[in-house]
Amino acid sequence: VGVIDSHGYVFDARGLTPRRLVALSRAKQEGKALVDCTGGRAGTPGEALAQMAAHALERPILVDVTAGETTALLSEALAHGMDLVLANKRPLAEEGPEPVLATAAGRGRRVRHEATVGAGLPVIDTVAKLRESGDTILKISGSPSGTLGYLFAELSRGRAFSDALGEAMRLGYTEPDPREDLSGADVARKAVILARMVGWTGTLADVQVESLVPEPLRDVSRDAFLAAVPTMDAAWAARVGAARARGAALRYTADVTAKRVRVGITEVDMTHPLASLNGTDNQFVFTTRRYRDRPLVITGPGAGPAVTAAGVLNDVLALAGAR
Ligand SMILES: NC(=O)c1ccc[n+]([C@@H]2O[C@H](COP(=O)([O-])OP(=O)(O)OC[C@H]3O[C@@H](n4cnc5c(N)ncnc54)[C@H](OP(=O)(O)O)[C@@H]3O)[C@@H](O)[C@H]2O)c1
Repeated sequence: VGVIDSHGYVFDARGLTPRRLVALSRAKQEGKALVDCTGGRAGTPGEALAQMAAHALERPILVDVTAGETTALLSEALAHGMDLVLANKRPLAEEGPEPVLATAAGRGRRVRHEATVGAGLPVIDTVAKLRESGDTILKISGSPSGTLGYLFAELSRGRAFSDALGEAMRLGYTEPDPREDLSGADVARKAVILARMVGWTGTLADVQVESLVPEPLRDVSRDAFLAAVPTMDAAWAARVGAARARGAALRYTADVTAKRVRVGITEVDMTHPLASLNGTDNQFVFTTRRYRDRPLVITGPGAGPAVTAAGVLNDVLALAGAR
């Protein structure tokens, strides 16, 4: 019935037709704001939500596909009786005093967030199904970043760090400032989301995160950082070469148990499934009481609009169909 961006919204309580949604999507792709589209109204996301909630909507669901700190807005939506679907990791990983999942549970509302980890891959679904069937998850480990997966796969092929990072930027795999990816913060958020599902009770601040950005380059401008990247090539070549001499490859991984969450570089044996990971693929390895000797492995594209949208749509359909 409605779509919201940073400055406005389009809403029709009778529903937006597919044709209208396609037109709105095109306009956003062309850089237009919703307020400038046909039927667009100005307003903050909070005002837009209040306006929509004032109508007697049947089984409303708010879908958060922003990258912002939206906890307050999500709490509002829950208070208005909405269920939630999230692709946005931040409200789940950077919980403040009012955790979204706890607020939802307290209000009898449901939250689905498959796309927060591994995009469209059935990662959250797998965790939920294992637990529902009485299995105990002992450990989840893997490579949950397409960007860092690509970078380390290229390094393994002997490519220079600056060259591999430049190519990742050209292909649109990184955030505009690649330090966002290289800092490991995004992987840490995904690790926190998974860890909470297996009983870990810590916060993002408790996660050991290994950043790939050298200390002196963390606070300089983006341009200064990019200019300094080639100075890191020799050290990376030596590190990758040393691992190769031991028959191993370097990968950026998250390791999650109920007691500990670690995010950083791991040396994996060349025969390990992670060593043969390609392109921007993600991989998740579940070691459980039932899948102990031969863990359950999920591998596949972990980013991109089409697969992410499919994950979001599946969540919406699950909520719509379950009531
Ligand atoms: N792309 C992927 O492959 C992928 C995969 C898995 C998960 N995700 C997650 O999906 C989310 C979106 O990713 P993206 O690449 O599409 O990001 P993006 O290009 O930055 O788009 C974010 C959109 O959210 C809008 N927005 C921001 N804050 C808002 C608010 N408070 N209320 C309403 N709208 C707001 C922005 O509006 P304006 O247009 O007005 O600025 C923009 O249209 C992120 O959390 C990302 O981590 C993405």
